Amino acid sequence: MNSDDSLPEIVRYYCDADEAKRLCTGWFRLEHARTQELILRYLPPAPATIIDAGGGAGIYACWLATRGYQVHLIDPVPKHVEQARAASAQQAEHPLASVQMGDARHLLHGDNSVDAVLLLGPLYHLVDRGDRLACLREARRVARPGGLVWGAGISHFASLFDSLAHGFFADASFVPILDRDLEEGQHRNPTSNPVYFTDAFLHRPGELYRDFVAAGIDVLELVVIEGPGWLAADFDRLWNDPVQRERLLAVIRKVEREPSVLGASSHIMAIGRKKAQ
Ligand SMILES: C[S@@+](CC[C@H](N)C(=O)[O-])C[C@H]1O[C@@H](n2cnc3c(N)ncnc32)[C@H](O)[C@@H]1O
Repeated sequence: MNSDDSLPEIVRYYCDADEAKRLCTGWFRLEHARTQELILRYLPPAPATIIDAGGGAGIYACWLATRGYQVHLIDPVPKHVEQARAASAQQAEHPLASVQMGDARHLLHGDNSVDAVLLLGPLYHLVDRGDRLACLREARRVARPGGLVWGAGISHFASLFDSLAHGFFADASFVPILDRDLEEGQHRNPTSNPVYFTDAFLHRPGELYRDFVAAGIDVLELVVIEGPGWLAADFDRLWNDPVQRERLLAVIRKVEREPSVLGASSHIMAIGRKKAQ
């Protein structure tokens, strides 16, 4: 873990943000449902061993444990590690295999030892490409031949869409943040407004793809997570109607690989496989 990097800022940000509840609110529910769908699409049957690196409060890790997987969660935020331990204790029959403070750039597992690695956070929080490649190379190292890696990115254009949709596009303090996002993909929030998030790198779809390839991981899919679902005018009403919810998910599936739609999603997902030797 580098002491001179953005981890202290990330830890500070998540002290106030509530990751344990986020995925149950508003259109984060779409992110949650689609992420689960994209994980299940490729995951081998249980039992298999998964590392959830940047697993936050344990939402995906605990869900996978209830499905019979051996899940090891690491996260650099002490609050998240505590929350994940508490969530694991709540499901005594399906606890997490381990929950530890850790950094996706330095995994403690041995070479070729796990079936799958989830990187649903580190690849957008690490602002330096060398660090993102270090994460992916570590995922490749610990994955068995043929093992799988999921990597989530925030879209290069996400803060533009978010600011337009949520009314802070014109905020003078947001203008330089957005300008830098669009020029460099380097998101920084020097204000004290938590709505403007924290240090992050915003990927163009091709950048996430190339990071996987540079780390020696074959890309099986590069898809949208939410796609254009965030545009829904009355998302809660739509999501709470089971028929419309399924329709939305079916439409997103139809457009999920479309290159012109990839950048219009808040998040994108690369799913890769380590070559079988
Ligand atoms: C928005 S949360 C996502 C949590 C969960 N994976 C999800 O998808 O809902 C991003 C997570 O990435 C973690 N993270 C940031 N940098 C990391 C790093 N270098 N190694 C591991 N985790 C990291 C953060 O602590 C945080 O828990």
